[in-house]
Amino acid sequence: MEPKLFSPLELGDLTLPNRIVMAPLTRNRALPDGDVPHALNATYYAQRAGAGLIISEGTQISPEGKGYIQTPGMYSDAQVAGWKAVTAAVHGAGGRIFAQLWHVGRISHVSLLPDGQAPVAPSPITADSQTFTASGFADVSEPRALETAEIARVVADYRKAAENAKAAGFDGIEIHAANGYLLDQFLRDGTNKRDDAYGGSPENRTRFLAEVFEAVTGVFPAKRVGVRFSPFSGFNDIADSDPVATFSVAMARANDAGLGYVHLVEGQTGGPREFPANAIETLRSNFSGAYMANNGYDRQMAVDAVESGKADLVAFGSLFIANPDLVERLRLDAPLNAPDPQTFYGGDAAGYTDYPTLEEAA
Ligand code: PHB
Repeated sequence: MEPKLFSPLELGDLTLPNRIVMAPLTRNRALPDGDVPHALNATYYAQRAGAGLIISEGTQISPEGKGYIQTPGMYSDAQVAGWKAVTAAVHGAGGRIFAQLWHVGRISHVSLLPDGQAPVAPSPITADSQTFTASGFADVSEPRALETAEIARVVADYRKAAENAKAAGFDGIEIHAANGYLLDQFLRDGTNKRDDAYGGSPENRTRFLAEVFEAVTGVFPAKRVGVRFSPFSGFNDIADSDPVATFSVAMARANDAGLGYVHLVEGQTGGPREFPANAIETLRSNFSGAYMANNGYDRQMAVDAVESGKADLVAFGSLFIANPDLVERLRLDAPLNAPDPQTFYGGDAAGYTDYPTLEEAA
């Protein structure tokens, strides 16, 4: 019998033919003029259409939400037209693709933002972190706190980006609430020092997230919406005094909104799988939808996680960069291409669309 990893999963009215997901992966290969997706990006995603589900790289919902050079956006007509070609290519190759909606908050640099404005954040605390700009790596800039009255505008930017993703032909969306970006900055008490209705208790710190869920589930059916959290990661200088308490409430918010899945970075982002014993089970008990696991999985770990019920879906990052036909290779337990970190961020087709399939390698 084939492992359950290779069996279908129903996400609302969408059937995923297998449980292997292409994780959202920043590649910095949008057109520099306007952060527009183009033909090379369509080829890259279509090559990976064997995934049960593709989640796009993070796409900024507004110019203010941008944190790195050449990441694609989801707010301009040119971007929507570029994404249309991407989704058409993926669908033409038999795949399914969600757009990951991203606002970086304080993880940005004045040179990347309109009129050199300061990044926005829950509180004016500068991260000990770096970003990539036109002149190379740079320390992130000092942010300003969003006014209470401004939060509705950012929620509206999420709604508009969801509408754009729908117009561009995406099958659904993933809300990026992980890795120290804007929504994660609101969730954690290390970065959220607000004294309004969006700060203080976990209830208050998850309010912005809940408002985003409400806005985007008015655009896509709730089962076509997922969310990504990284409760135990310190990536981008993020911290919380009680992640299990904070993220139990965040998971309950996802449950109340009826979301299709929750996607967890289990441990440090791109690092060790370190988290307190039973913490993931505790978090999961707050959410009745599908559970997507991520971080350092290999074939055997993924097979075991799905077989035992510890995960419904498993997302792979760097292995999907290096293996366009990853699902087929895992099915056959075939050798895998090794990813080349030198070509992860920025550049051209090299290290992007030129990794061979098994057939091409033979
Ligand atoms: C990155 O560009 O390094 C990056 C972007 C988004 C993430 C994590 C890392 O969620």
